[in-house]
Amino acid sequence: MPDLLVIKSCFLSCLLVLLQTSSSQQDEQSQLLLVSFDGFRWDYVNRVPTPNFRALMDEGVQVEQVENTYITKTYPNHYTLVTGLHAETHGIVANEMYDPIHNLTFSMEGSEVYDAWWWEEAVPLWVTNQKAGRKSGAAMWPGSDVAIGGTYPTHYLSYNASMTFETRVEKLIDWFSGPEAINFGVLYWEEPDESGHNLGPESPLMDVVIADIDEKLGFLRGKLRTAGLYDKVNLIVTSDHGMTQLSHDKIIELDTYVSRDLYTWIDKSPVVGILPKEGKLEEVYNSLKNANPNMVVYKKEEIPDHYHYRHNVRIMPLIIEVKEGWTIMQNRNGSFMLGNHGYNNSLPSMHPLFVARGPAFRCDYTKASMRSVDLYPLMCSILGLKPLPNNGSLSSVQDLLVETSTPKPVVPPVPREPSCAWAVGSVLGAALVIGFLFIFVQQVTQRQHLPLHLSNSEITQPLL
Ligand SMILES: *[C@@H]1O[C@H](CO)[C@@H](O)[C@H](O)[C@H]1NC(C)=O
Ligand SMILES: *[C@@H]1O[C@H](CO)[C@@H](O)[C@H](O)[C@H]1NC(C)=O
Ligand SMILES: *[C@@H]1O[C@H](CO)[C@@H](O)[C@H](O)[C@H]1NC(C)=O
Ligand SMILES: *[C@@H]1O[C@H](CO)[C@@H](O)[C@H](O)[C@H]1NC(C)=O
Ligand SMILES: *[C@@H]1O[C@H](CO)[C@@H](O)[C@H](O)[C@H]1NC(C)=O
Ligand SMILES: [Zn+2]
Repeated sequence: MPDLLVIKSCFLSCLLVLLQTSSSQQDEQSQLLLVSFDGFRWDYVNRVPTPNFRALMDEGVQVEQVENTYITKTYPNHYTLVTGLHAETHGIVANEMYDPIHNLTFSMEGSEVYDAWWWEEAVPLWVTNQKAGRKSGAAMWPGSDVAIGGTYPTHYLSYNASMTFETRVEKLIDWFSGPEAINFGVLYWEEPDESGHNLGPESPLMDVVIADIDEKLGFLRGKLRTAGLYDKVNLIVTSDHGMTQLSHDKIIELDTYVSRDLYTWIDKSPVVGILPKEGKLEEVYNSLKNANPNMVVYKKEEIPDHYHYRHNVRIMPLIIEVKEGWTIMQNRNGSFMLGNHGYNNSLPSMHPLFVARGPAFRCDYTKASMRSVDLYPLMCSILGLKPLPNNGSLSSVQDLLVETSTPKPVVPPVPREPSCAWAVGSVLGAALVIGFLFIFVQQVTQRQHLPLHLSNSEITQPLL
């Protein structure tokens, strides 16, 4: 019975979309809002009631687990989501980086973030969207307040951690409204990552944090509704990575194995870039190779193929990866967190979730997995943009979309193909007309012969 209700509400919302988008808005651009709740592990939706996530799943699509890109950190993965490239290709290989050619370091917390050249090995989707003559809006997505290739998003907010989620949403709603509306928006929120680090994902206190994220999603849905955008804007909610529980018993102290004088430490646990001092590579490597069963050290050229994490000067000559749940620091004076991410991107604990709804998406459809690199060609298809060369594949995720015909990414955009809403609406509309005619004829005939049959009211009920 609940299934039936879901299908019914889904069809009804499709019908509403049809009624809203028929004729007048047929040739308008598709609108798309991409939302990231940092560190939202795929299975968080199963821990506490999350009615707003559930509603999106019922009205749209759910991908249970997203295989993100290595390393499973915030900056690399947020840039992957908007470029479709693995970190080695888009160049944001870690939250903390060293570029040996420029002899400069990058820190997520530093002002280097605003030096555009760090980002310019790739072109993010908001720039491509604007090159096609459209408008983009960005609320604090990593890299979105940087003039990448000389271009800022049409509207953007400079990063300010104190700005509430609600304020960010209100800005975006403004940008999506009116005659000068953007067609592509990105929205970033710092939680539940921050709490996941501090409390550890296993903490019962995380339940409150997850419930709060669901409420925030509810706020966004409400604002979209009030602005008349809910059935117009394609809404994607996803994340950059998951989170795993750490333990004070699982700490590796690098000082035990190798002198600090022999190398420079780049980036943090659990994947550490090691830059050996001139001529010290073999010595450092040999000291670490068999040092601890809970860590692996790779020479750059030995990094496993499946990580797609090798071909960039910002990837250090040696990298150390620790096993899930372990922390690496130079000594115990380093900072310890109860939760972390960054590990092997094949681990389920590192995987984010993906839910989406709107005119481009199928209704009440679940898929087991997708790769985060596939999101970029998916978004390009929705926006009618020609994707730049990327590591994703539209065909792997095409089943999420209503238009199962071969996509026609063209710039400038052609009028949109009839959507799911159109197809479902047409069928439903026809059924409606036939149903009414049938009932009308039946009633007229029955009035002449018999009293109104009970089953007629049962048939008419769902049509009202
Ligand atoms: C790199 O920059 C540092 C200062 O940040 C400087 O001390 C060092 O000499 C530079 N190295 C090279 C190779 O230029
Ligand atoms: C950051 O946002 C807060 C809250 O909206 C505001 O009070 C503050 O002035 C902002 N800071 C900057 C530097 O804009
Ligand atoms: C940790 O720091 C304290 C004070 O800052 C210092 O006395 C101690 O030796 C340090 N411990 C290690 C293992 O380096
Ligand atoms: C990452 O995890 C996958 C799946 O468990 C495994 O096959 C692979 O060997 C792991 N890679 C590394 C380098 O540990
Ligand atoms: C990812 O895509 C870029 C751009 O097409 C390409 O240069 C790179 O080789 C690809 N990487 C992989 C692992 O296929
Ligand atoms: Zn984090």
